[in-house]
Amino acid sequence: MGDYQYDNQTVNGFILSSIFWGVIGIVIGLWISIQMWAPSWNIAPFFTFGRLRVVHTNSLGFGLGIGAIFGVFYYIVMRLTKRPLLFPKLARFHLYLFNAAITLAVLSLFAGMNQSLEYAELEWPLDIGVVILWVIFAVNVFGTIIKRKEEQMYISLWYIIATVVAVAVLYIVNNLAVPAGLFKSYSLYAGINSANVQWWYGHNVVGFIFTTPLLAMFYYFLPKSTGLPIFSHRLSIIAFWSIVFGYLWTGAHHLVYTPVPDWIQTLAIAFSLFLIGPSWGSVVNGFYTVAPDWSKMRTNYLTKFFIFGITFYGLQTVQGPTQAIRVVSQLIHFTDWVPGHVHMGTMGWVTMTVAASVYYIIPKIYKTDIYSVKIADTHFYLVLIGQLIFSVTMWITGIQQGALWKAVNADGTLKYTFMEGLVKNYPFWQMRTVGGLIFTVGMLFFIYNIYMTMRRGTSPAGSRAEGVV
Ligand code: HEM
Ligand code: HEM
Repeated sequence: MGDYQYDNQTVNGFILSSIFWGVIGIVIGLWISIQMWAPSWNIAPFFTFGRLRVVHTNSLGFGLGIGAIFGVFYYIVMRLTKRPLLFPKLARFHLYLFNAAITLAVLSLFAGMNQSLEYAELEWPLDIGVVILWVIFAVNVFGTIIKRKEEQMYISLWYIIATVVAVAVLYIVNNLAVPAGLFKSYSLYAGINSANVQWWYGHNVVGFIFTTPLLAMFYYFLPKSTGLPIFSHRLSIIAFWSIVFGYLWTGAHHLVYTPVPDWIQTLAIAFSLFLIGPSWGSVVNGFYTVAPDWSKMRTNYLTKFFIFGITFYGLQTVQGPTQAIRVVSQLIHFTDWVPGHVHMGTMGWVTMTVAASVYYIIPKIYKTDIYSVKIADTHFYLVLIGQLIFSVTMWITGIQQGALWKAVNADGTLKYTFMEGLVKNYPFWQMRTVGGLIFTVGMLFFIYNIYMTMRRGTSPAGSRAEGVV
């Protein structure tokens, strides 16, 4: 190993950016959750539910999620290849460009510029910016992997490669559009093709932003933080290849009972069920990794985050395939059950795993210890409780909504008016806000802990390779 320095400042910059966009997204999440039961909170056109909802999803998916992916991946790639990034200056430029792009994205969504495709709302000039960002990232990641000093490719690198390739393909294909002015464009796809391509993208962008990168982090930081080797490398590789094979066929499970040809729906449902296998391959691998010493759940604060995170991933990947089945889809589709599913994954699996990775990285690059394990524990329990309240209330109200909408009188007319169904949601929507508030307080504990750790450490101007890998 040589006399070189890891570029920790760029890693640090991305982590801070990710936290910043996370705060924006979470505050707006709280706000839209209030708007659902208190419409007077739609205070101006810029702050109506329709505009804020997309700011919420974009700042959390693309700001918090992708910001963390960039920062944590740079960190992991350098350590696993045992060399600095191939283009450190490009990585720094990448950081500035990322923040500029997300700022413009958020402003344009506030202003109502929107392609009306979920998770692909940005108009074409920003799409081009996103592609440039991704190419810069890909060049650095692939370049560094190709020039690696460690021949073995640990499983996290495979998940990183899959993320980089899949997001690029998905984003470019779904965003192909004909510009009709600077802020307006028309998708290349129309009618049912548009829906099919959109949900092929929509499902997989969730998969390749909220699943594969998180698994890369999980497989890297779980052994690092517990000191226990991963249970089975073979299982991790089998699960990896089967998940990337299976994922891309499942998008049409969002379009059950639509004019999309029946066989496409059935194929998507079958592949959704297939995904339980590889998903649980990782869950089981995680559990068995910690199995030799379960006391780590008590003695090592990070183990809790990773093990609960992967548990929610496990639950999510049983619930998801179940939702894909026709008989379940016809009850829960269009209901609040789906946001319940979404937030078990995002507030449970995603934010727990990202927070634990950040808890691991920040003390390392600031050459200190975490400021307070007690605060980290408090953070853990608050986000856990907040998330459970959110998801469980949404599942209950979702089933209730589905049942009310389906109830018919003997003559075939609807038993309940729209208004009757709507008012029944109010207590559950209020509970969701309570859950969101508890979760937010938990995240504030996290931010305070990270801030204090940074304050007592030394600036991450670069750490010698030895001792940090
Ligand atoms: C085996 C894995 C999974 C399968 C088969 C699956 C399946 C599904 C299905 C069928 C829906 C559509 C429900 C409906 O509208 O009727 C859905 C929605 C969603 N799932 Fe999953 N899910 C899986 C894992 C995950 C994970 C790990 C996450 C991460 C957080 C996630 C996030 C989402 C999101 C964000 C939506 C909402 C999409 C939208 O309508 O905007 N899913 N999932
Ligand atoms: C305080 C925490 C949070 C609150 C109160 C909150 C609230 C909400 C609300 C009210 C919606 C709209 C649901 C609807 O249209 O019926 C929503 C959607 C969504 N949120 Fe959150 N959220 C929070 C945290 C998060 C986090 C941390 C993430 C991602 C990392 C996230 C990702 C999403 C996504 C992807 C959707 C779209 C779901 C769909 O289309 O079904 N949220 N959130």
